[in-house]
Amino acid sequence: MSELLIRGRVLTFVKEPEGIDDTASYRFFEDGAVLVRNGKVAGVGAHAEVAKQAGDGVKVADHRPHLVLPGLIDTHLHFPQTQAIASYGAQLLEWLNTYIFVEEQKFKAPEHAAFIAGRFMDELLANGTTTAVAYCSVHPESVDAFFNAAEARNMRMVGGKVMMDRNAPEALTDMPEKGYEETKRLIAKWHGRGRAHYAISPRFAITSTPGQMEMSRALVAEHPDCYVQTHLSENKDEIAFATSLYPQAKDYTDIYARYDLLGRKTLLGHCIHLSDREISVLAETGAVGVFCPTSNLFLGSGLFDRDRFDRLGARYSVATDVGAGTSFSMLETMDEAYKVLHLQGQRLSPLNSFYMMTLGNARALDLEHCIGSLHVGADADIVVLDSRAKPAMELRMQVASSLTEELFILQTMGDDRSVAEVYVAGKPMKCGPRGASAPAPS
Ligand code: GUN
Ligand code: FE
Repeated sequence: MSELLIRGRVLTFVKEPEGIDDTASYRFFEDGAVLVRNGKVAGVGAHAEVAKQAGDGVKVADHRPHLVLPGLIDTHLHFPQTQAIASYGAQLLEWLNTYIFVEEQKFKAPEHAAFIAGRFMDELLANGTTTAVAYCSVHPESVDAFFNAAEARNMRMVGGKVMMDRNAPEALTDMPEKGYEETKRLIAKWHGRGRAHYAISPRFAITSTPGQMEMSRALVAEHPDCYVQTHLSENKDEIAFATSLYPQAKDYTDIYARYDLLGRKTLLGHCIHLSDREISVLAETGAVGVFCPTSNLFLGSGLFDRDRFDRLGARYSVATDVGAGTSFSMLETMDEAYKVLHLQGQRLSPLNSFYMMTLGNARALDLEHCIGSLHVGADADIVVLDSRAKPAMELRMQVASSLTEELFILQTMGDDRSVAEVYVAGKPMKCGPRGASAPAPS
């Protein structure tokens, strides 16, 4: 039996915060601890209480005065775009054609895919992200690289092979049957193996013919426990192009609805320019709109209207969307989320930000039983945050007087330097050993 007592200022959410200081939404232990046994949380609470549950001679990781939270969750990003962050000057469709469809062709080479996959996982961990939902490239090799790198680090990861059969370079397209067969094989190989979850991934309506959408429908029907990920209503030119390709559809959302692709396991990147009708369809089907603030600002796409999602009762989550997103850091992402909502007269409270990065995103994935909060039986995926990681943060913290103020400082000023440690299933990954990264191809 392996045991570890992680000591620090423990914070974990139990429900969505309402208002600026909803103390009923979280549990906080100023002198707290998490007892980890065999990779799971075996106890959480005040240090004096939890320490009693530990065996004699238990190893202690003392992180005081840092905060101890559940590992952060990123619900949408692209692992083959790791080296395409900061591609200059274009909006979505031009950006895809100029940069992304060139970059993703490199992932045909297994050595390149393995190298980037390892570095990608390490970058997530360095930023305190322990679970992410990622697009791979069209190449099955990229999916193997992705899940191999996750498995080497024992990370709970969601991913899948992009399917595209038009409006992309030939080297990046799969015909409907091939995309179907390859996806089936990858699901059989990876879904449910260790901590891996598969996401069926038609990239978006523009790059799939009706034939490929039919194949996606079949895959979803045959694998109801897999996730589905695609993009929806990110950019005005994209919407015009997508709806022109599917003239029978009422609107962009209806394209996916007609192929039965909307359900509780469906994650829809962006959802910026939706009508009330479309958001209501998401609410009815349980599909999740994914808010990607740094990406939406970087590509000049628009502002996600969270309050309308709340009013119409639709689910949403938050994500980096690397490589249109400009940072792997969920802290930096929430900093931008705050500003995007502020521009629309909407508030994002610090408690709500930290809820969204943890329990909120876990709920969007229906994984709250195992990740996103520190409860007995949860996976011991844990992040340790240092609110004084930079001199300017240290100075600012000198005049901070509450937990919510500290969280807001972390979100506004923090980045990977604030991640003092990260644990995956109880194993330290930042200061301790990481999984094996493949060497760069020569
Ligand atoms: N829409 C279709 N593909 C992509 C992508 O790779 N990134 C973003 N931001 N939007 C997309
Ligand atoms: Fe995306």
